[in-house]
Amino acid sequence: MAVYTRTHMCGEMNESLVGTQVSLSAWVQKSRNLGSLIFVWLRDRSGVVQVVFDQNHCSEDVVKLANKLRSEYVVNIKGTVCKRDESAINENLTTGKVEIFATELNIINEAQTPPIYIDDTAEESEALRLKYRYLDIRKPKIQNGLIFRHQVIRALREYIDEQGFVEVETPILTKSTPEGARDYLVPSRVRTGEFYALPQSPQIYKQLLMVGGMERYYQVARCFRDEDGRADRQPEFTQFDMEMSFIEPEDIQSVVEGAFANVFKKYMHIDLQLPLPRITWKDAMYQYGSDKPDTRFEMRIQVINDELQNCGFSVFETALQNNGIICAINVENGADISRKQIDKLQEFAKTYHVNGLAYIKVQEDGEIKSSLSKVLSDTTIANIIEKLHVKKGDMAFIIADKELVALTAMGQLRLHIAKERNMIDKNKYNLLWVIEFPLLEWDEEANRFVAMHHPFTSPLPADFDMMDVDPGKVRANAYDLVLNGIEMGSGSIRIHKSDLQAKMFKMLGFTEEEANTKFGFLLEAFKYGTPPHGGFAFGIDRMVMVLMGADSLRDVIAFPKIQNGNCLMMNTPSAVHEEQLNVLKLKIQE
Ligand code: AMO
Repeated sequence: MAVYTRTHMCGEMNESLVGTQVSLSAWVQKSRNLGSLIFVWLRDRSGVVQVVFDQNHCSEDVVKLANKLRSEYVVNIKGTVCKRDESAINENLTTGKVEIFATELNIINEAQTPPIYIDDTAEESEALRLKYRYLDIRKPKIQNGLIFRHQVIRALREYIDEQGFVEVETPILTKSTPEGARDYLVPSRVRTGEFYALPQSPQIYKQLLMVGGMERYYQVARCFRDEDGRADRQPEFTQFDMEMSFIEPEDIQSVVEGAFANVFKKYMHIDLQLPLPRITWKDAMYQYGSDKPDTRFEMRIQVINDELQNCGFSVFETALQNNGIICAINVENGADISRKQIDKLQEFAKTYHVNGLAYIKVQEDGEIKSSLSKVLSDTTIANIIEKLHVKKGDMAFIIADKELVALTAMGQLRLHIAKERNMIDKNKYNLLWVIEFPLLEWDEEANRFVAMHHPFTSPLPADFDMMDVDPGKVRANAYDLVLNGIEMGSGSIRIHKSDLQAKMFKMLGFTEEEANTKFGFLLEAFKYGTPPHGGFAFGIDRMVMVLMGADSLRDVIAFPKIQNGNCLMMNTPSAVHEEQLNVLKLKIQE
């Protein structure tokens, strides 16, 4: 038996073990030396327990050795579990009713003073924590996050396995898949000047698995996207990716709901009400100003075009003449928002590309104050107040602009105000499907349509006829799952016919030659008997982040990268030896 062989874990120590001889191997959290009495807190993944060294239980040599212990030393102790005196019970420790009187001590490995404190409450810079991530991971908070992540994936797997899905691994060295971000490229040594791309998702492979007759596929898949980092984006992240054959959207949605409900039941102890509510993209935009609506609070957006027809105020009239809209929210009890705060809200709204933000306030005494009082008649203002149900003590905000610009800005303002005024119940988990997304969106810069989801998403059958007439109006057979205003995952029914796929590529501005060079294999595959199919992918990192109440993906990924894609621990990306570049026949341009 090795000297460090354990009989128990630290966190298991409790009153039922009193009198038991134990062998614990763990890290020293801290030690307190009171002369002939030394208290040491030992920590392993399961928790912390207090160990006592005194001469009644161990030899003088052991006490002397215990004197040398420093934080993060790796040790083995053998000793007896004892009940603590009533007065010495530590309620803050789960093991706080007992302590171990040591009889033996072995120092297995010493440790230098660590550059960060191994303590959840320590407030070091994130850069330092990430540089020493392996020490940061010793903190219970980070360990618990990784364990929770494992449990979430396990609960999804369990459910999906029961439904007859088969886990299949797909290649990492692959061809570019157009999910909308830049690819990470890997140069080929054998075929000079040619590159693999790391997968942005296993989208095409999972569709080809359906062509291959696998019927039900899943994979815990690593995806790579070269896009600017944000709190909810990492250059490499994990999807729980699925695909099914011979299905309608409801079939895959109910599998996804079941898998999600399994996670909620097992690890959040919440019974989800299924089926989940559904909202169309259009309603989501019109009511919440977002395709990821946070429905934990009301304050819905309302359109007040009718109230402002021929109102005499040129800004509003011009917006309406240009097919724009005028939309508003009513902040209940918002009349206390000060002039200064209104200025700040106006600045905030402008960051979403609108020209201005108007307000109407009804004071507690009934007096109306409005930025529009000089440009609108009293009757028009009264009509708006009536339409929006602005009561005494409320304040309404109004934006006029192009449809999606105005709605998006108002949606962001709605969220911003709700956060500032603590209107969001943090204990609520509001899950819903957003369906009927537009198939295409117009890219001003490229002067062409781009796929809103990806080019393999099928149009809604009801809109097939519109593809040639008014492509911008065609709805996609796509669906996103949203939790508390954050996209948990997305999916769609796919195009499964070669001619429709070719047409889609054409609508996206590909020439026939380009489509064949990039996706010829797929267009061909669809000619050999492709079943109708569809799928979904959970964003695991985001899902775990939201369920844990973490603020950043970095808290739920073992070795995350920072904003610019660097790993501070390994210092990647990093230069490579010239010899390696020569083999690849690559030259760095100065
Ligand atoms: P999509 O691009 O919407 O769909 O991605 C699915 C989910 O993955 C998560 N996600 C990310 N998480 C962390 N960092 C990122 N950079 C990042 N990008 C995306 C999100 C998102 O909802 N192939 C399709 C799925 C399908 O159609 O089946 C796809 O990849 O939570």
